[in-house]
Amino acid sequence: MCGIVGYIGEDKALPRIINGLKLLEYRGYDSAGLSFVKDNKVFIEKEIGRIKNLEEKINLDENTNMGIGHTRWATHGEVSKVNSHPHRVGKWTIVHNGIVENYVSIKEKLIKEGYSFQTETDSEIVAGLLDYNYKKEKDILKTISKTIGELTGSYALGIICDDDLNSIYATRCGSPLIVAKDKNGYYLASDVPAILDWTNKYVLLDEDEIVKLTKDNYEVYNKDLVKQKKDIYTFEGSRNAAELNGYEHYMLKEIHESKKVVQDTFNYYVEKNSFKKTMPDFKKYKNIHIVGCGSAYYVGYIAKYLIEEYAHIPVYVEVASEYRYKDNFYDKETLVIIISQSGETADSLAALRKAKEDGIDTLAIVNVVGSSIAREALWTLYIKAGPEIAVATTKAFVAQATLLALLAIKLSNKTELLKEFDIDKELDIVLEKDYKRIAKTIYKHDNVFFIGRLVDYVLCLEGSLKLKETSYINSIAFQAGELKHGTISLIDEGTPVIGVCTKESIIGKTISNLKEVKARHAYVLLVTNEDIEDDFYNQKIVIPKVHDIVQPIVTVIPLQLLAYEVAKLRKCDIDKPRNLAKSVTVE
Ligand code: AGP
Repeated sequence: MCGIVGYIGEDKALPRIINGLKLLEYRGYDSAGLSFVKDNKVFIEKEIGRIKNLEEKINLDENTNMGIGHTRWATHGEVSKVNSHPHRVGKWTIVHNGIVENYVSIKEKLIKEGYSFQTETDSEIVAGLLDYNYKKEKDILKTISKTIGELTGSYALGIICDDDLNSIYATRCGSPLIVAKDKNGYYLASDVPAILDWTNKYVLLDEDEIVKLTKDNYEVYNKDLVKQKKDIYTFEGSRNAAELNGYEHYMLKEIHESKKVVQDTFNYYVEKNSFKKTMPDFKKYKNIHIVGCGSAYYVGYIAKYLIEEYAHIPVYVEVASEYRYKDNFYDKETLVIIISQSGETADSLAALRKAKEDGIDTLAIVNVVGSSIAREALWTLYIKAGPEIAVATTKAFVAQATLLALLAIKLSNKTELLKEFDIDKELDIVLEKDYKRIAKTIYKHDNVFFIGRLVDYVLCLEGSLKLKETSYINSIAFQAGELKHGTISLIDEGTPVIGVCTKESIIGKTISNLKEVKARHAYVLLVTNEDIEDDFYNQKIVIPKVHDIVQPIVTVIPLQLLAYEVAKLRKCDIDKPRNLAKSVTVE
C-alpha cells in the first residue's frame, strides 16, 4: 500500500520526508518520489525500487522547507519511473494513495478538453481534474472540494498548487491521513510511525476533510469548507517499539513479543479473574457474523469455534471482500464483528459500513488506535499488540486470538475460564524451541500441504498463509477429511504434509489421514500437544497442552516460527514480501 509523507516548517524538508518514507517502508512499495519547493519553483524527483535509489538522486541538504513524498505500491500502471508519484498537471502536483474507480471517464472528459497524459495511472488524472476545475473555481480550497466530489473510490492526496507555494493541502476518503506538529513545523503522513521521530501527537483526518498546512498552522475543513475542530491523539507506543531491538527481522521480533501482547491484552480487559469495564456488556445476540481478510479472517474463524462451543451462539464467518457484496441475512439480533489489525483494510471497512447502513450492531477488533474501522464501529475493542511492522502478521494474530477468547468467555459468562490464560510458561516453551532443523527438511520444496480438523484446520490455514507470504512456497491447507475426495492426488514422493493435531476429540481421525499420505510416501511433520509415539511421521513438533480456549494461541507460534525459518533459508525479503502491503486500503 502506498505511503505519503509531507513536511512544512522551519527545518530542511527533505531529511524529514525521506526518513518518514523509510518508516513507512513496511507498508510495501515498488518506487518512491518526492516534490519540494525552492526559490518559488516546484521540483520533482522519483525513482523505482527502494528509497535509497531516490536518496541517491537528491541533495538532502537542499534549501527547502516544504515538500511531499510518496512510496508507490503499483495498482494502475506498471512499476516504472514515469508512473511513480508525484504527478504534475498544469499548476497541480500531487501524491496519491488509493484507487480512483472512475478515472477512465474523467480521463476521457479531460482529453476532450485538450489535456494529454504521460502515465497509465489513475493518480495523474486527479492532478488533471484539479487543474481543470481550478480554471473555473480560481480558489484552491474550492477546487479541491469540487474535485473530490467528482471522484469515486479511495484516495489520500498530498497536494501542492503553484499559486500557493507556502502551503501543502491534503484530503482523504478511504485511505488514512494524519496531521502532526512538532516544535518546528507540520507533518502529513499515511500512518503514525512516519512521524514518531519528531512527535507522538497527531490529528486524524476524517472522510472528505481537507487540510491546509503552512509552516505556522494547520486548518481542517469539511467538504463544504466549514472549519473543523479536531481531537489530538497521543500514540501510546514508543519510537523504539518500531525498532528491531537486535532482532534480524521485525517478524522474528514480533513473534517474540507474543507473550507480552497476550499479557497486555488480557490485563487490559481482566483484573483478578474478572472482566473490567473495558469489556462492554453485550446484549444477548441470536447470531454473530465475523468478517475480516487474510489472517484476520482466520482468527475470526478460530473465534467461531470458541464462541459456538462456549457461548452456544451460532457464528457465521466470511471474508470481507465477499461479505460486502452479498445478502447476509442479518437482523437486529445479529452482531457483526469486524477484525482488522490496521483498521484500514478497504474491504473490511466497506463491510462495516454496509452493516451499519443496514442498522446492524457492529464491533471492531483493531490494533491501530483511531483507525477508520475503530472509529466507525458501534463498539471497538483494541488488542494491545503495539505497532506491527512486518507485513506478515504474527503478534497481532496472537493478540486477536487472546481477545476473541476473552469475548467467547464474556458472551458465555464462563468467567472461571479466565484463569486458563496463565500460559507464560507454555509460550516460553514454544518460543524457545529451535525450528531451523525442521525448516531445513522442507524449505527446498515448492509445494507444502497442511491438514487438520475443526480449529486445527483453521490453524493450518494460518500456518499455510504465513509460509506462502514469507517464503513464496505454494502451500495449501486442507480439511483432513477432505484429502480422499480429490486433493490426495497431489501427494507425491516426499511431499511435505504438516498435520496439526491438538483437538483431543478428533486427533485420531487426523492421524488416520496422515497415515494415508504417509502410505503414499509423503514427508509427514506432526504438530501436536499429545505424546504420540508412532512411525507415521518423519518429524514431530510437540507443544504444551493447555485449555482449548487458549490452545490456538500456543499452537500458532510454532507455525509462525517455522515459516520464518523456511523463508530465511530461502533468502526471502521476510519483513516486506514481494507484491504485499501491510494494510490493503485498495479493493
Ligand atoms: C497476514 O499475514 C497478511 N499480511 C494479511 O492477510 C492481513 O492479515 C490482511 O491483509 C488483513 O489485514 P488487517 O488485519 O490489517 O485488516
